[in-house]
Amino acid sequence: MFVVEKLSGSKAELYDELARQTRGLLEGERDLIANAANTAALIWALVPDLNWAGFYFLKGGELVLGPFQGKPACVRIAVGKGVCGTAVARRTSMLVEDVHAFPGHIACDSASNSELVVPLIQNGVVHGVLDLDSPLLGRFDEDDRVAFEKLVSFFVAATDL
Ligand code: SME
Repeated sequence: MFVVEKLSGSKAELYDELARQTRGLLEGERDLIANAANTAALIWALVPDLNWAGFYFLKGGELVLGPFQGKPACVRIAVGKGVCGTAVARRTSMLVEDVHAFPGHIACDSASNSELVVPLIQNGVVHGVLDLDSPLLGRFDEDDRVAFEKLVSFFVAATDL
C-alpha cells in the first residue's frame, strides 16, 4: 500500500511524496499513538540519513518518550533542557547543525551529529515535539525545517492530541 523505500529524487520531490503518503496514512484515523507510530515509521522509511525519528509528548509538565524509530532513547526530558526541551520552552523549531556545540544537548545515541526538533502546537497549546536526529553534521537546512513544520501542522490537525 505504501512505498517504503528511501527516495533518491530532489528534496522537493521527497517532501511532496512524504506529505502525500502522510495524508494517506493518517486518513480516517485520529488516534495519537497510531498516528505518531505510523508517522515516525514513514519518516524513517522515506527520509535518508536519519538515525532517530520520533515523538515526545508533554505529560505532567515534562516531555515523555512516544513512538519512534531508532535506538532506545532517554524517556523523560524537562522543559528547557536539551534540544527538545528548548523547542518546547521557546515554542519554536530548533535546527541544530552540530549537536556537540549545543549547550545541554542530550545525547541519546552517540551517532547523532545534527538535529531538527519541531514542536507540536494545537490551538496555541504545545503538546510535544517531533525529533529527528542525523549522523551527518549539518544534515538539516531551512528546506527541511519548512517541510517538517508542514508535516507537523498536518499531523496536529489530523490527530486527537
Ligand atoms: N537529543 C535530544 C534528546 C532526544 S534524542 O535525540 C532521541 C535533546 O537534546 O533534546
